[in-house]
Amino acid sequence: MGKVYVFDHPLIQHKLTFIRDKNTGTKEFRELVDEVSTLMAFEITRELPLEDIEVDTPVSKANAKTLTGKKLGIVPILRAGLGMVDGILKLIPAAKVGHVGLYRDPETLKPIEYYVKLPSDVEERDFILVDPMLATGGSAVEAINSLKKRGAKNITFMCLVACPEGVEAIQAEHPDVDIYIAALDEKLNEKGYIVPGLGDAGDRLFGTK
Ligand code: URA
Repeated sequence: MGKVYVFDHPLIQHKLTFIRDKNTGTKEFRELVDEVSTLMAFEITRELPLEDIEVDTPVSKANAKTLTGKKLGIVPILRAGLGMVDGILKLIPAAKVGHVGLYRDPETLKPIEYYVKLPSDVEERDFILVDPMLATGGSAVEAINSLKKRGAKNITFMCLVACPEGVEAIQAEHPDVDIYIAALDEKLNEKGYIVPGLGDAGDRLFGTK
């Protein structure tokens, strides 16, 4: 079963409070999502493998470390996931960025992919799939399907706010995927919003309503 990590770092929790606040405007909301994404990327990269190398300092040789292992790919689920990409790239600038776009079929209510573009070396990369909200889990599960269908082997999912329904959906369909979240909220309401949540993340990021 994939693990669920809730980041309790004080800076993440502090900034998330203002992200949740309905009085936070678009500019500040966007900046805060960017900052929290950077902080989460710092936590998520804690276990990246290192190898020993030797480097010449101005004084002597030093035994040092450098990142090794697979390269990374970041994949936002359109559109709200876009708000998290730059914050992650600040720490992992060499990562490549793919995109997954999904719409909800009006009859079946199931998410259907309408756009997928991934780095060509998809099998060689570890992927961080991002979306600020993990609500029903339908989009996340379908986006993971989209990545796996194209050869992705190691995927982690990162979001700001999740609810138990979404976590359970990913764990049921993709038990190999670890989930990183800033807050695990109480539930989904009848309109599909996370309670207490932060409202519609896409609308708040892009100033649409
Ligand atoms: N998507 C959002 O943007 N907000 C929610 O609360 C649920 C899904």
